Amino acid sequence: MAHAELSCFNRGCGARYDIREILYNCPKCGGLMEAVYPELKVDAASLRRCFRERRMSNAPLDASGVWRYRELFPFLDDYSHVITLREGNTPLLESAIAAEYGGLKRIAFKHQGFNPTGSFKDNGMTCGAAQARALGMKRVACVSTGNTSASMAAYAAAGGLEALIFLPHGNISFGKLAQALEYGARTLEVEANFDQILALVRVLAERLGIYLLNSVNPFRIEGQKSIVFEMLDQRDWRAPDWIVLPGGNLGNVSAFGKALREARAIGLIDRMPRLAVIQAEGAAPFYEFMRRGADFKAVENPETLATAIRIGDPVSWPKALFELRESSGVVEKASEQEIADAKAQIGRAGIGCEPASAATLAGIRKLTAAGVIDRDADVVAVLTGNLLKDPDYIYRYHTGKLEAPGGVKIESRFANRSMVVPNDADRIEELLR
Ligand code: F0G
Repeated sequence: MAHAELSCFNRGCGARYDIREILYNCPKCGGLMEAVYPELKVDAASLRRCFRERRMSNAPLDASGVWRYRELFPFLDDYSHVITLREGNTPLLESAIAAEYGGLKRIAFKHQGFNPTGSFKDNGMTCGAAQARALGMKRVACVSTGNTSASMAAYAAAGGLEALIFLPHGNISFGKLAQALEYGARTLEVEANFDQILALVRVLAERLGIYLLNSVNPFRIEGQKSIVFEMLDQRDWRAPDWIVLPGGNLGNVSAFGKALREARAIGLIDRMPRLAVIQAEGAAPFYEFMRRGADFKAVENPETLATAIRIGDPVSWPKALFELRESSGVVEKASEQEIADAKAQIGRAGIGCEPASAATLAGIRKLTAAGVIDRDADVVAVLTGNLLKDPDYIYRYHTGKLEAPGGVKIESRFANRSMVVPNDADRIEELLR
């Protein structure tokens, strides 16, 4: 068993701690924490073979699209703590329609909406929940724009943990709120935004001894690395030119960068893909920071209909900055109209996703137009959430009633309206001829 440790991510500090300590920030310098494996010795060829063989196994750990790759995040010494809902195992889907819209010859979507609770959060949550159980914690908590809470509620329920959820009142989709309720989580809707509630929850977790399962939890990040591992496995370990993903709290891009660096270091891939993070225009602090290059400044009142990424003060920005530098990455932003149009195109391709996920294709369209991404580049875009997460947005879009924050009307350029008809075969026949 490889030895695991917690390490301060701040490269100027690098303090090390026992893997069983409950830390979200470094006690010495306040930096973010990460799990590291100093003695990890693995052989790329035998790992590839092992991962492939496990796809034919019915053992729960092997059938999970996360735990199948467990040698690449060996922080547990007892796998009986794992709760798996067979997360991961998400498809890589090509689409000619979406490629054309994005200005590319080809595109593949890694669709994390096929997860058990319908988002990429399940990849990380199975790891975070396993660590909670390994530590003997009884209660877990998170603040969420909806997907983290849905996922945490499911894994807590399946693993016998008590779930406490904090949501920004009035600013999450009903689909996601419904999931938290159905999975039995104690759910508090706070009259504040995500960033304010995260500060609140960190205080409460400390006071009440509750384990925090937001993406500041380093074990969430370890699990989300598997999105990249599985995608590379599906491509027979050929690295793409670009991996494009939406950015909110910036945990996912941190996980992707770490996964790619580690895969490269052990020889699973022979080059680094470039990362492209897309933010919603009204919640784009990281975009502004990378563009201006000065100090990081939070957006005080983030606004976007893509409520999943309605975050103004992303905690993981230092990790995201590091990973973008390591991968020669870029950040782009997309307007509400651009996200809505791209989302409709992904739907028309027979794939579909929630609004935040569509920021990927909207961003790709801009990046190809600007010549940053080549037309014949090999691009994988990660769709982070399922189409059915936010049906209200879809209904409004297709009925011409979607309004951006501030009341600006979104043009329903690709609207598909339903028709109300009488119960009359002749009339319907006439209509359909
Ligand atoms: N896409 C979706 C569908 C999300 O739910 C989130 C984040 C993101 C993208 C952005 O990922 O935060 O790692 O940069 N949702 C969190 C939540 C904040 O509470 O569910 P990120």
